[in-house]
Parts: sequence; structure tokens; C-alpha cells
Amino acid sequence: MIKRLFILLTMISQMAYGDETDQAFAYADTQLRYQLEQVENVRKEKKDWTLMPRCVEKNGRLRMVRQPDWCCGFFSGELWQMYQYSHDPFWREQAVSNTWPVERVKTNDGSHDLGFMVYNSFGKAYELTGEQSYRDVVVQAARTLATRFDQRVGCIRSWSWGTPDRWQFAVIIDNMMNLELLFEASKLTGDRSLYDIAVTHANTTMKNHFRPDGSSYHVVDYNPADGSVIKRITHQGLFDESVWSRGQAWGLYGFTMCYRFTHNPAYLSQAQKIARFWFSQPDMPEDLIPYWDMRDPAIQTGVGPAQNGGCPRDASAAAIIASALYELADYVPDNDAKAYRDHADKILHSLFTSYQPSPRTTQGFLLLHSTGNYPAGDEIDVPINYADYYYLEALNRVRAFKNK
Ligand code: GLY
Repeated sequence: MIKRLFILLTMISQMAYGDETDQAFAYADTQLRYQLEQVENVRKEKKDWTLMPRCVEKNGRLRMVRQPDWCCGFFSGELWQMYQYSHDPFWREQAVSNTWPVERVKTNDGSHDLGFMVYNSFGKAYELTGEQSYRDVVVQAARTLATRFDQRVGCIRSWSWGTPDRWQFAVIIDNMMNLELLFEASKLTGDRSLYDIAVTHANTTMKNHFRPDGSSYHVVDYNPADGSVIKRITHQGLFDESVWSRGQAWGLYGFTMCYRFTHNPAYLSQAQKIARFWFSQPDMPEDLIPYWDMRDPAIQTGVGPAQNGGCPRDASAAAIIASALYELADYVPDNDAKAYRDHADKILHSLFTSYQPSPRTTQGFLLLHSTGNYPAGDEIDVPINYADYYYLEALNRVRAFKNK
């Protein structure tokens, strides 16, 4: 009897979440059509058809960027996510026309963010269409990214700026995300060197970027002469030993993705260790949308620059974590998988019920309350495009799982 009741309750909750996923996509459909109108207005005014929406400024205006801004590929990625869900030619057309303006970045060797820019746009386009032209851009971008790899350090250099005043050879945890481009290009071409670079970068990061509890530093500065660690610091977190939420999210997603391509159990363990650390955060809000930095004293004092006062949240970190957990759940035994999916379901439920602006407002963004670069005073508690991208990706992932 109790078992039957449990099955019934599980079915009801699955139906509720299934409905909610479709409702979230229906909402995204309305919002993104509205965002396309806003984007068109700015492009016409500026006579620049390469501009992409990045965030909403504090004054409510749309901030537009073009390549090589690291956020230039997320908008087309969102449109591809809409096409993946709907198979509607409208979304495909919009995605195509917003993907090609990013192409030029494929030969830009000044940025480690080629994965963010090219994988989520051209990579997604290739995955959904199989068209050769997208594949070629992915491969070219990966070859360009590989030129930033340093054999002595065993990593791809992250930022080119700041050297030598602030660091010698900076590697940031975010850089794990760019390995997806290398792995994919290696798979497409059979070029083993791209795979080896990705694996070496992941191994070096696993060795040097993490604290014993599974949390990560934001920046590790290496000595390029011998590959030794000079210092471990932060740039976008509150202080060097703090827990910058999006950094933890990039690490979780990054090592989960590395396991997808390599089946190396060390990467799976690393991802699970990060998840354990994340689940044990004493100050995690009830709704599982983290504070921008989990060691910000404003969490306790309640005095901070969030819209309604208090410590700002980071919906983008939550969306990245949800998406990563859905993938990680596919690789682990049932008990862990359930815990990961439950956590991710709860994040999506919170985002759907409490973080979406009213339809046809807020420049068409899907989620409120992300924090981009708090120490620089930039993008604090605002909508940002990568939060929307990973939200849609997580929705597609949960839908794929529930349709299995
Ligand atoms: N560099 C990526 C981020 O701000 O998370």
C-alpha cells in the first residue's frame, strides 16, 4: 500500500515537473520573440547587425556586445536550444542568422573563451543540423584555442591581459568549459593532439585548482618557466579563500563534461566531490539559488547591493549547476543520480516560479538575479545571457531524461 502511494506521488510529481518544463519553454518562446524585437531595434539604431544581447544594465537598457566578447555566442545558443525543443523552423532561422556573426572569432588567438563563444553557437548548430559549415568553424576555433596551450605549465593560458603585473600565466577555473570545444573537434577530426591538450589541462587543474574540501580557487598563477604554482587567488570572487559560486559551477560542469569524453573515473570522482561540497553549504538558501559568493558576510548581515537589499544571488550559477547535475546523474549509481536530479529539479522549479520576469518585459531575458563581476561592480543582480542559456540547456536535458 505504502509502495503504491509512493509510486503515485512520484508520478504526480513527474507530471507536475513535465508540465512545468513545457510551461518554461512556452514562456521562453514569448520572451525570446520579444528579445529578438528589442535586439533588432538596437541593431537598426547602431547600424550593426553583429551585436548580441548580453545583459540588462541597472538603468534597464540592453547591453549589446559583439565578438570577441566572451558572451557573444550564448544568444544564438539559446535560439538553438529553442529549436532543439520545438523543431520549429522559425527558431532555426533565427539561430542561423545569429550564429554566423560570431564566426570571425574562430581565428582569434587572444582569448581562451573560444569554447564559450563557438561551442554553444556553432557546436550546437552542428549537433542539431549536421551541416559541414558549422563543423569547420568548430574545428578551426579548436585549433586556434590549442595555440594557447603551454606544455611546461600543462594548461591553456586564460587571460592575456594582466601579465606580468598581476600574474605570469593565469589559469581560471572557468577555462574547464572551453575544453568541450577541443574534445569535440578531436572527435570530429581524429586529431589526437586536441584531446591530449584537453586532458592535460584537466589534469593540471584537478591537481592545482582545488582545496581538500572540493571547493576551487578562481585563478591559479603559474610560473611559465617551470610550471610551478606561484599563487592561488581570486578575481571575480570576494577573497582568495572564498567560494565564488559560478566558479564552483564551472568546475562541476567541466569535470562532468570531461568524463563524457574520456570515461576517466578520476574526472567523475572530481565532479562528485564538487557536488558533495556544494550540497553541504550551510548558507545555501532554501530555493537552492546560491549567493554570488558563499562566503560573503552580507549573507549573515543581510546588508548588500541586491535589488531588495541583502546579498546578491547568482541565478547563472544555479542554472549551470542544474544542467551539470542532470548530466552527472547519467554516470552514477541510482542513489546518487536521484540526489543530483532532485537538486537540479528543485533549482529549475525555483527559477521557473520565482526568477522569471513578467512576459514581454526585462528586454526579453528569461531569468532575473545573476551576478557577473561583483568586485568590478559590474552586472550585479541583473539578467545575463549565460544564465538563460544554461537554463534552457537544463530544461532540454531534464526533458530528454523524462522522455526516455
Ligand atoms: N569568465 C566567465 C565568468 O564570468 O563566469
